[in-house]
Amino acid sequence: MNIPMAAGAMIANVNQLRICNRSTIMTEGLTNMADERYLKALRFDALTPLYDFVIRHALPEAEFKRHLVRQADIRDGQRVLDLGCGTATLSVLMKELHPAATIIGLDGDPKILGLAKKKALHTASDILLTLGMAYELPYADGSFDRVLSSLVLHHLSREQKRRTLRELYRVLRSGGWLHIADWGEARSVRQRIGAWMEQLFDGYDNTSDNFLGRLPELFAEAGFQYVQEVCQYQTLVTGLSLFQASKV
Ligand SMILES: C[S@@+](CC[C@H](N)C(=O)[O-])C[C@H]1O[C@@H](n2cnc3c(N)ncnc32)[C@H](O)[C@@H]1O
Repeated sequence: MNIPMAAGAMIANVNQLRICNRSTIMTEGLTNMADERYLKALRFDALTPLYDFVIRHALPEAEFKRHLVRQADIRDGQRVLDLGCGTATLSVLMKELHPAATIIGLDGDPKILGLAKKKALHTASDILLTLGMAYELPYADGSFDRVLSSLVLHHLSREQKRRTLRELYRVLRSGGWLHIADWGEARSVRQRIGAWMEQLFDGYDNTSDNFLGRLPELFAEAGFQYVQEVCQYQTLVTGLSLFQASKV
């Protein structure tokens, strides 16, 4: 079923969905923009309810998400975007650690945003949720102080990554920072085997820039400066890197 949206962005706070999107949302089958490839959280729609369980057990989730938030050095009053927020674990954590910041999560999958909304209600976290595409952000230029994103870029084709990073550059203010956690360069035999297994699940084209260590050059290409891989976690799967970059 297609639900055509009115102009603007579809914004949901924890109590209500305010629908005002410029795109068409499909609520069945392969969600979202019919002309774009969309990779869901665990690839298959039916697995979405298991997402939190799988990630909690397969990755050092609490550790690397806390690290990412610490790295972002969020201050009171700042506006922070959680790009591809999924079930909003990172958004909720940011709100818990920085109650005086405005936290906005965006995701392109209405089903996972439903889970995010439940989590926000359950934890009484005052976060805003937006349904939208990473590469077509419904926000004004320079409207964020920080953008954080975890495990999202490897869902995007190279062209979608490029468009997304240009959008992130646009919505960040000068002096704002981008903080990314995602699969990083596969540097050892063990990591290359893990990367290969991950590619069997999530696909080759969208993940290869991660595993070949090309994310930093894509950040720089979008205009970001001070691009740095801060650290890499060895997970059960393969290497998960934390990056940062600034819009000067
Ligand atoms: C692996 S999940 C990560 C979720 C969350 N950030 C986390 O760390 O647990 C990837 C998320 O990116 C979202 N996503 C994938 N492609 C997207 C796109 N083009 N625009 C917006 N969100 C997208 C998926 O719906 C999914 O929720």
